[in-house]
Amino acid sequence: MQENMNSEAEHPCLSRRRFLLMSGGVTVSTILLASCNKSDDGDGEGQQALVAGYARKKIATLGELQTDEPAPIFYPYDNTDLNSLGFIVKLGTPAGGGVGPASDIVAFSSLCTHVGGDLSNTKKTYMKEHKILGPCPLHLTTFDLTRHGMVVAGHATESLPQIVLEVDGDDVYATGVLGLIYGKRDNADLPIVI
Ligand code: FES
Repeated sequence: MQENMNSEAEHPCLSRRRFLLMSGGVTVSTILLASCNKSDDGDGEGQQALVAGYARKKIATLGELQTDEPAPIFYPYDNTDLNSLGFIVKLGTPAGGGVGPASDIVAFSSLCTHVGGDLSNTKKTYMKEHKILGPCPLHLTTFDLTRHGMVVAGHATESLPQIVLEVDGDDVYATGVLGLIYGKRDNADLPIVI
């Protein structure tokens, strides 16, 4: 492993071959190429990429999810990290990023992207008629759960971070996060620098 890291340090860019190798072990959810060398010739060599790896974690089963009844989850960390508080919900209508037979199962962070308002009391914050989360108890932002958590109205400017889901049989797994969870410098505290 150390040998591989040394090799990566010498050739810090993410090549296509290296990307494919990495994605077999962890979910490669974030790739930042902003720091890449502008003189790159297009094959990726000579650039630097930052990749966040997420654990694959079982968070629900299809059988236990009832339409319009959100359930709490903790991802990408465990229940000792409040920034990981989120929820999974079967919307009953197809949604962006939705999984399951009807593509209607989605999951999101429960922290508002404005200044971290707590949206986890879904009995009050989930509006099933419109598939919207909110209004946030602090400054009233609402988020559309059918459109990747985009802002409908309010102070927030960033979409609610969406948890990437996979279905395997009856099990639903979280495998990554789209968007930066409020309060985190990066979602994965230990990003892999390659
Ligand atoms: S913290 Fe949610 S709108 Fe301000």
